[in-house]
Amino acid sequence: MQKPVKALLAVTLSLLVTASVVSCAPERDPFPASSTPAAAPAESPSPTPTPTFDKTAQSIDDPNSYWVIVNKLRPLNPADFTAPDLVDVPVPYVYAPKLRAEASAAVVQMFADFTAETGLQMQSQSAYRSYSAQVSTYNNWVSQLGQEGADLTSARPGHSEHQTGLAIDISALPAACSLDQCFADTPQGQWLAANAWKYGFVLRYPDGYTAITGYEFEPWHYRYVGLDLAKEYHDTGATTLEEFFGLPAAPTYAG
Ligand code: DAL
Ligand code: ZN
Repeated sequence: MQKPVKALLAVTLSLLVTASVVSCAPERDPFPASSTPAAAPAESPSPTPTPTFDKTAQSIDDPNSYWVIVNKLRPLNPADFTAPDLVDVPVPYVYAPKLRAEASAAVVQMFADFTAETGLQMQSQSAYRSYSAQVSTYNNWVSQLGQEGADLTSARPGHSEHQTGLAIDISALPAACSLDQCFADTPQGQWLAANAWKYGFVLRYPDGYTAITGYEFEPWHYRYVGLDLAKEYHDTGATTLEEFFGLPAAPTYAG
């Protein structure tokens, strides 16, 4: 029995040595580099398409459209059009304002953000005006300035953006430079000039464009056109809706 016992001992010893060598081997990296999934091959660069702004996406003729263009050559059709979805605009005011619902919500947000940023306030001077209200407004200007002067500052009935429910005259609160060109120099006028586009508004009658718009500078008159158009208008440096849409200048009435 001597030999088999020796042999068994030798085998056992060799097994023990092997086991200790294995257990002393450096621990293998549980996630060896070779098992890391190869990085996905870079996709072949495809040109990012530049979305072109579709200037025909909405009607500029339909008075119900947020893009309707109204000027001395483009009366509302029908002339006595009544704007849809008019709501009371819950902001401070001189004359209780109504606007189309989407424009109203934009004004509320814009006024709130202005006040949050500056601690100052704005108010609505005048917003939606019906055909008959515009008759009174225009006639009042004619009695003050004569027809030629009135036509540079007030639209004839059926030709006013105020009748679309998308335009608002804004003034400072407390009032300063209301409906006066010096409104452009007030904190309210300056903030609006820089920020109104973010809320979907454009300054409709800018300084120096009377030959195109037909009206003198009105730093208080903002027209809601929606966020997309206002952003494109801003980003492209547009100054009048007539030029933006390639429409004829409208300095005077046709007839
Ligand atoms: N003041 C602008 C031109 C209007 O009367 O509609
Ligand atoms: Zn106005």
